Amino acid sequence: MKTLSQLLSMKEQKEKISMITAYDYPSAKQAEAASIDTILVGDSLGMTVLGYDSTVEVTLEDMIHHGKAVRRGAPNTFVVVDMPFGTVGVSESQDLSLAKQLYQQSHANAIKVEGAHIAPFISRCSNIGIPVVAHLGLTPQSVGIMGYKMQAATLEAAEKLIQDCKNMEQAGAVMIVLEAVPSDLAQKISATLSIPVIGIGAGNGTDGQVLVYHDVLNYGVERQAKFVKQYGDFSNGIAALSQYHEEVKQGTFPSAEHTYKKKIWDEVTPD
Ligand code: KIV
Repeated sequence: MKTLSQLLSMKEQKEKISMITAYDYPSAKQAEAASIDTILVGDSLGMTVLGYDSTVEVTLEDMIHHGKAVRRGAPNTFVVVDMPFGTVGVSESQDLSLAKQLYQQSHANAIKVEGAHIAPFISRCSNIGIPVVAHLGLTPQSVGIMGYKMQAATLEAAEKLIQDCKNMEQAGAVMIVLEAVPSDLAQKISATLSIPVIGIGAGNGTDGQVLVYHDVLNYGVERQAKFVKQYGDFSNGIAALSQYHEEVKQGTFPSAEHTYKKKIWDEVTPD
């Protein structure tokens, strides 16, 4: 398993860090077998596997449940798990206790939190030994306010984002996920910070990249963002299921090759 200090050295040596989301045992197993450096149990699972319209409905229990499955599938990969909507910033004592619960019960190596307001939370987590990844730029939990569009499009907004990222690092963040921002800005932020910056829709000047498993494999995806590249195609699952359905209807499945052949009733004398 890559440790945080190894991820840091990868940045220093300009070796790119790969990250992919995974939400269950088989996807985590595949990610580990593919030697992906880090796995994110993203709250995008709300859309990709639970069928919600956004990440807003995802609960802490959902994240723990999926986080545990991912850990079982990828025991030797650095795993980051998302703190879901509404768990940070409401009450100091409560958010720390939720962070502890998520970190301890999911067995992840770090938790990830969205938004520029979280620096004090990062410090509190750091103080008790919970590594935190900060997610800035487009933060899907705030989709009701910012929508799904490129962020930091003006000089003023770009300067604010640079400052926000510095604040995260100062507060003790161990990595940053930067989503949907202009590539020259993402490159500048990556060069400014000492911690790894993992981009999604942020160009190739960051220290690493993250994509969503279902987008990469075209698995049940309804809309694809501009920055997604599809590397495989699981969409033929529908054709396979239709064929199964037909074969059951026609009685051609199961055939002899899928049937236990030991004869029992031939040896019994009929009444
Ligand atoms: O939840 C998620 O999958 C994410 C990625 C888009 C970075 O936060």
